Amino acid sequence: MSRLFTPIRIGSVEIRNRVWVAPMCQYSCEEQDGVPGDWHREHLTSFARGGAGLVITEAAAVSPEGRISPQDAGIWNDAQADAWAPITERIRVHGAVPGIQLAHAGRKASNYRPWGPERGTVPVSEGGWQMLGPTDEEFEG
Ligand SMILES: Cc1cc2nc3c(=O)[nH]c(=O)nc-3n(C[C@H](O)[C@H](O)[C@H](O)COP(=O)(O)O)c2cc1C
Repeated sequence: MSRLFTPIRIGSVEIRNRVWVAPMCQYSCEEQDGVPGDWHREHLTSFARGGAGLVITEAAAVSPEGRISPQDAGIWNDAQADAWAPITERIRVHGAVPGIQLAHAGRKASNYRPWGPERGTVPVSEGGWQMLGPTDEEFEG
């Protein structure tokens, strides 16, 4: 059998195979509060049910200004952590290991989500924010 489907241990974590789901932003926190919901649960659980060994959440912002878009998921407060907990539990129930991508969008922050009619920076008047990055050079676009 291919090693792809054999278990691997990383430190104390045993993972049932090497098929791992990379982080995929969903831009689907419709309340713009960073709290993951039904969409995130169904999306992530389906990969665990499908047999993946490790399922990594989309980029989860570590602060509000670290979101790429207003609809990004976050993990900067207890309400968000409490909302992630049952999702990670469902991933475990289906035999996969949950992971999280901790993220800060830096100068790529405060953008419209990619499938809407608008592109580029969301102005403060529309729920955007002053971005915070390691340089004052503009992010292209
Ligand atoms: C819909 C979608 C959302 C993504 N969101 C993220 C993300 O949240 N964080 C990240 O680091 N990469 C993100 N990526 C990049 C993927 O994690 C991955 O690195 C990329 O698809 C290349 O991997 P692949 O060659 O296995 O497809 C995203 C990709 C897609 C298709």
